[in-house]
Amino acid sequence: MGVKSKAAAAILVLLMFLGSLWLQGGLDYHWDTCLKGYNQVNKFHQLSNSSGADAAEDPRILEGCPGQTFQVSMLLTHLLAAPAYSSDVLLQPYLSSWDELVKFMESLGPMVGLISKEIETKTSVIRQLALLAEENPDAELSPDVHSINSGNTDVGTKNNAEASGHASAYHSVRSMIWVELNRGLVDFHHQTDSGCRTLLRLHRALLWLKLFLEKLAETPVAGRLRSPSELCREAYQRTLANYHTWFVRRAAELAFIAMPERGFFFRLVCVQNQDQLSTVLTRVVEAIEEVYNRTQKALEENGMLDLP
Ligand SMILES: *[C@@H]1O[C@H](CO)[C@@H](O)[C@H](O)[C@H]1NC(C)=O
Ligand SMILES: *[C@@H]1O[C@H](CO)[C@@H](O)[C@H](O)[C@H]1NC(C)=O
Repeated sequence: MGVKSKAAAAILVLLMFLGSLWLQGGLDYHWDTCLKGYNQVNKFHQLSNSSGADAAEDPRILEGCPGQTFQVSMLLTHLLAAPAYSSDVLLQPYLSSWDELVKFMESLGPMVGLISKEIETKTSVIRQLALLAEENPDAELSPDVHSINSGNTDVGTKNNAEASGHASAYHSVRSMIWVELNRGLVDFHHQTDSGCRTLLRLHRALLWLKLFLEKLAETPVAGRLRSPSELCREAYQRTLANYHTWFVRRAAELAFIAMPERGFFFRLVCVQNQDQLSTVLTRVVEAIEEVYNRTQKALEENGMLDLP
């Protein structure tokens, strides 16, 4: 295929994606109402006493931001709720964080929104598995019973003792890994729709967003601030691009060209200038990093960083 026909094909596919975007509008409302109660409780908690925060962290910055679907305060709330025990991550707040990140991407314009559709598919795969597990009493066997029954290796039995107190197999990253391994649901050679494999895709995308927000938070001592579009492309090239085909990489880079300017990000999180943006984003990045590192460790310990 020549360059021109490749470009034509790319545009055609993007238009098709755009079409499906229109069809799927209105999802946000659902999540807004679902999460409102949860968020308000947590926000109140954060705002009620900021004595632990340093002076730069103005608590008002994390108040709700009127007129936005994406709420950075909500994102932070979910992210901070995700780490659990010494090294685990709770799946419910993890997925809720993704809901908020999807809104973030969607606010960056239809082209980046295309990528977020893929993310939504992934989060719904894990949610679906969790629902199925809840309906199926088998899923609630404790790890000990399970390893005896399945005659499987006792991989992670000790490490996951902490997860055993919870009813659902999809309560946390480690409980999901444990249950899926023991049921032989994780295929290390072929593509499947296991929760672990799906989590790995989300996990890789999280690194991209973390890096992008990190770059957006940077304030150069001298010289100009670089454009979000450039920063996002750079973050992508260092992370997700490694896993993508030529075609997807080109499509993604097209999407980043259309990304809004920096002033848009100020409005998006209700701040006035780069210093304030930096303060807010740094908190978000730290929270993402904690979640990312824990997930990375859990996947790594189980040899799951390259699941097909
Ligand atoms: C915040 O917490 C500190 C101790 O953690 C306490 O001394 C202070 O009175 C609290 N402030 C408010 C406004 O609740
Ligand atoms: C996450 O891991 C990286 C690399 O291993 C490390 O440099 C960083 O300090 C860790 N961050 C947190 C919050 O644990």
